[in-house]
Formats: sequence, structure tokens, C-alpha cells
Amino acid sequence: MGKIIAIANQKGGVGKTTTSINLAASLAYFGKKILLVDADPQANASTGLGVDIEKQEKTIYQCLINTISTKEAICKTDVPNLDLISSDINLVGVEIEIVDAEDREIHMRNALAEVKDDYDFIFIDCSPSLGLITLNALTAANSVIIPVQSEYFALEGIGKLLHTIKLLKNKLNPTLRIEGFVLTMFDARLRHANQVASEVKSHFGDMVFNTMIQRNVKLSEASSYGQPVLQFDADSKGAQNYLDLAKELIERSK
Ligand SMILES: Nc1ncnc2c1ncn2[C@@H]1O[C@H](COP(=O)(O)OP(=O)(O)O)[C@@H](O)[C@H]1O
Ligand SMILES: [Mg+2]
Repeated sequence: MGKIIAIANQKGGVGKTTTSINLAASLAYFGKKILLVDADPQANASTGLGVDIEKQEKTIYQCLINTISTKEAICKTDVPNLDLISSDINLVGVEIEIVDAEDREIHMRNALAEVKDDYDFIFIDCSPSLGLITLNALTAANSVIIPVQSEYFALEGIGKLLHTIKLLKNKLNPTLRIEGFVLTMFDARLRHANQVASEVKSHFGDMVFNTMIQRNVKLSEASSYGQPVLQFDADSKGAQNYLDLAKELIERSK
């Protein structure tokens, strides 16, 4: 049965989407069957995997409001073993459309139950908010990966996310775990980056992945070409870092 991992942090620009795409592609490279669910109306994970969202009609939005089946929404990517459910701006409407439903937090869980057995890992790229769609993602998930940017104020807002996870554990999702914190955009030449890294490690100990994602321009270039970095420049630091993170995740999941 597939493991569902939400990639979340309500701070924007910390590397959620970059981690979703490249961790997913690296695991696919190691032969794992992967589904990436784009749960952000901004659809950066979809465009980052080369989907033309203007033309893509079947999205996570229709899945969540039950007008299509989850299988219908799945599309293949250019990466072997990596499937995608894309998103678009319509997803914003879900918050309004299901807000009064009694089962409003479990739409994503129900949608993914249908395909869970077809994959080794399902990643959900969350938006920078703790709104209803992210709550759906965290309710569907077995665990959460929290990207933390190696910058000043990195831990700002994490308390709120951890509090939300705690509430969900008490009520909607008792087995939800924190898979790990991953430091992103790390630049060893900067003293504050090292300070942030040691602060995060002293705070969260073993829950921090040993692999740190270094700052590497190939990662943003790859996204703008609609490719995972492994396809765009397999020799880059970014590609190597995400392969290492994938290995570490496989080890931890044993
Ligand atoms: N390790 C990295 N090195 C360089 N640029 C990065 C790295 N990780 C992310 N970026 C860039 O930073 C910006 C924000 O990253 P993104 O993954 O979209 O964050 P989020 O999904 O949390 O908003 C993007 O332009 C992305 O290409
Ligand atoms: Mg994003």
C-alpha cells in the first residue's frame, strides 16, 4: 500500500514545490511508483513537470468535488514511474464549495483511497496556507515532510503548522507522523545558513533529514523548463542532493 506524504509549510517560497517535484522524480528514478498531487491553486508543480495548465482539463479540483474519478485525473509525465494530478486556479473554489459539507476535511483522503494501492509513494504539494485544502492533504497523509529554508526566521510559523498537526492527530488523523524536516536552499558560505541549520537540528534532532538541499540555480532553471533537475542536469548539485534525500527517505521508510 502506498505511503501518502504531504509536503507542507505555510510559509511561501521555502522549497515545497521544488522538493515535491525532485524528490518524486528521484524516487521514480530508483524504480518506485510515484504519484504527485498538486494541491496548490498556483499549480507550480504542474507547470514544473511540463503540464500546460491552460489545456489540462482534468485536475484535482474535479476530484475533490467528485465530478471525476481520481483515476481519470491522473496523467503520465515524461518521467518514467511518475504520474501527476495537476491543479489550476479553480482549486481555490473548493474551499468555498465544500466548506459547509460535514465531511469537508476528508475529500482528499477519499479521493486518494481509490489509487493508493497503485503507488509506492504519493506526494501532495501543499499551498502556502493552512486552509481547507491543506487540511484535506494533512488528513489524507500518513506523514508530513516540512521543508525549511536555511534563512533568517526559518522557524517562524512552524509552530502553527505543528499545532495544526497536533489537532489533526487528536481528531481526524490519529496516525499522522512527521516524516522529517528538510533544510533547503542551504549555502554553506553564509554564516547565518549554518546557524539556522544547527538551530533546526537542535530543535528537532533526529527528525531533520541528514541530507541538506543546497542552493543550486539548476533547480529553478529546471522548473522553468518544465523538468525535474534529474532530467535537466543530472550532474548538478541539486540533482545529487535530491537523489540523496530520496535514498534517505527509502531507508527511513523500511
Ligand atoms: N535549492 C534551491 N536552490 C535554488 N533555488 C531554489 C531551491 N529551492 C527552491 N528554489 C527556488 O525558490 C523559489 C521558491 O521555491 P518553491 O519550491 O516554489 O517554494 P514553495 O513551493 O515553498 O513556495 C522557486 O523559484 C524555486 O525555483
Ligand atoms: Mg509551491
